[in-house]
Amino acid sequence: MARHDEKRLFSPDDVLSPEELTADAKGALLPGEVERDRDLDAARMWISKDDGLLVRGVKPHSAEKSTLVSRGIDTVSSAMIGKSFAAKYGVQYLELYSGPGRLLDESTGKEQLGSPLRALGVRKPFTHYAFSDFSPECVAALSARVGKRDNVDVIRGDANDLGHLDRIGQILNPRALVIAYVDPARPQDLHWSTIEHLATQFKFIDLIINLPVNSLMRAILGAHHGGGHRPGIAGRFLRHDAPIELIRPSAGRPNTRATIDAIRRHYDEQLMSLGFKKPARRTVNFPTDNPYYDILLVSRHDRGLELWDKTNPVPTDPQLSLLPEESAP
Ligand SMILES: C[S@@+](CC[C@H](N)C(=O)[O-])C[C@H]1O[C@@H](n2cnc3c(N)ncnc32)[C@H](O)[C@@H]1O
Repeated sequence: MARHDEKRLFSPDDVLSPEELTADAKGALLPGEVERDRDLDAARMWISKDDGLLVRGVKPHSAEKSTLVSRGIDTVSSAMIGKSFAAKYGVQYLELYSGPGRLLDESTGKEQLGSPLRALGVRKPFTHYAFSDFSPECVAALSARVGKRDNVDVIRGDANDLGHLDRIGQILNPRALVIAYVDPARPQDLHWSTIEHLATQFKFIDLIINLPVNSLMRAILGAHHGGGHRPGIAGRFLRHDAPIELIRPSAGRPNTRATIDAIRRHYDEQLMSLGFKKPARRTVNFPTDNPYYDILLVSRHDRGLELWDKTNPVPTDPQLSLLPEESAP
């Protein structure tokens, strides 16, 4: 089992000041709405106005991430369901960080569907869905929202526990085409071994991975300045024994763009070493012009990448920008 007692290094609170966060929430939430708790990754958790269950507080960039991801998922299921191998083995959907199924944009007070409910709402539904989260509260809320359905499993477990991944392997068909969305909120929540295990477990898997480039850079620098010598959280995420080497031009003079490009290049290489093509990537900026995280589409087949590129072409929305050609790895 992965440890959950590690010191929290970075979170959205590092990007927005406590005053900004509080102002957002105060401005957006109506009296009677109660901040309930914080979840594992320190996001605010609220009670939904609509169904009285848990919702996860998010910043506006989450809605954009969600649109990008759900459009891609809808395109893949539409293209694949109905093909002969789908009838034989299935086109299945997996989330390892599923959350409670509803999100609350804390800047507007508006609730929106979380990624599991969006995946369930695609035009051509997947043949089977497996949703998993470490938090029992998230699992309870999502289970209640999904209800009882023959083709859906909602289970609790640590995404970095290989035994848990094996249990998921028994729920899903290892010969199916599997689309797995891996959406950790923080670098410490995902280990490279999880990606490696999924890639071995499922021969026909496409991954959608949230690569938190900014937090990874800060985790590397934080560990370095704190005197850390081991690979640490970022090294474990990126499969790098000495991630400080990714800081460009040097640890003493870090340049954000150059360092983030080095992190991207390294992670792409790790994925390609598992037999995947070079991933397609869209960057979510937060605040404007600041690369916050990348959403990667990782596939062993050109077709998967083509579908993604067709669905998510160069965005007109300035918050979602394609990586510029000159900085592409
Ligand atoms: C960014 S949220 C997921 C949001 C969801 N993708 C959506 O858009 O609705 C991350 C989730 O990961 C869960 N989590 C954190 N560490 C985990 C771990 N090691 N294994 C499984 N879930 C974890 C948290 O409880 C949280 O619900």
